[in-house]
Amino acid sequence: MRWGIWGAQFSTQEYATLIQQCIENGITTFDHADIYGHYTTEAEFGKALSLNTSLRKNIQLITKCGINLVTENRPLHSIKSYNTSAKHIINSVEQSLKNFNTDYIDCLLIHRPDPLMNAEEVAKTIDTLIQSGKVLEFGVSNFLPYQSALLQKHIKLSYNQIELSLTHTASITNGSLEFAQQHGSDIMIWSPLGQGIFAGDHPKKDDLLNAFNLMAKKYNCEASQIPIAWLNQLPYKLTPVIGSKQINRIIEAKDALNIALDREDWYLLLEKATGKEVA
Ligand SMILES: NC(=O)c1ccc[n+]([C@@H]2O[C@H](COP(=O)([O-])OP(=O)(O)OC[C@H]3O[C@@H](n4cnc5c(N)ncnc54)[C@H](OP(=O)(O)O)[C@@H]3O)[C@@H](O)[C@H]2O)c1
Repeated sequence: MRWGIWGAQFSTQEYATLIQQCIENGITTFDHADIYGHYTTEAEFGKALSLNTSLRKNIQLITKCGINLVTENRPLHSIKSYNTSAKHIINSVEQSLKNFNTDYIDCLLIHRPDPLMNAEEVAKTIDTLIQSGKVLEFGVSNFLPYQSALLQKHIKLSYNQIELSLTHTASITNGSLEFAQQHGSDIMIWSPLGQGIFAGDHPKKDDLLNAFNLMAKKYNCEASQIPIAWLNQLPYKLTPVIGSKQINRIIEAKDALNIALDREDWYLLLEKATGKEVA
């Protein structure tokens, strides 16, 4: 999301170099959505894959569909809306395949819950895409347990990609983690660093950064690794989706998965994040 025109504005060569560096460091899954860069980032990434044809077989591509953005790149859209109809999903997957210059998407996610979603229609459509080999795995993003449950009646959800970080803790208590675990879905965490709390603004920023700095000394690591280590203590199969444009920070985030925080430190960070002790 942050590598294209919504962020770094990488050249094709810069994309290719960073993809290669990620692979060399054991990071092989790349998260996309049709809308990123106002519908431009998938194709830019695809161009980079075309520079070196060996890249595709060494990586997994996640992409999402279901949001319609108003942009000059999609003149037919007059209002921001969701679309989970069969026609939209199929057109979106076909376009993503073209953009990436590939025959298959490793994982397709429905980007947001759509109040107009017909669960049976989505399930049938995904089933057809899986049967044809165009999509290997399927999941959702930003679905609450009852929304997942509706779709899950008709099709296996392999993933739910949700927001969770020390600046956005709702998913700890809204049942999303427990539901996913109970139903065998893996959880991807978006904005694990709170959309860059280190650079951006947040009412608890100072408290959190002070705590990160203290813990970085205790655990002999970088302060920016503490929020990832905090997520990794949760007893679920979680994969943070890292948003950095810098290889050193991407590697740092991966290495943070080796840091084991004490139980009390985990709760101390939660307290700093929420501003109150647990009941
Ligand atoms: N499913 C969804 O609805 C949804 C929604 C939003 C995002 N996503 C996905 O989740 C991914 C991650 O989200 P995100 O980008 O918001 O994640 P994030 O990891 O919380 O934030 C990344 C931002 O933090 C900055 N950052 C990281 N470490 C820093 C440090 N030590 N000091 C200062 N800045 C630092 C990065 O800048 P640098 O690049 O300079 O390191 C980058 O701008 C996105 O790329 C996208 O693929 C999904």
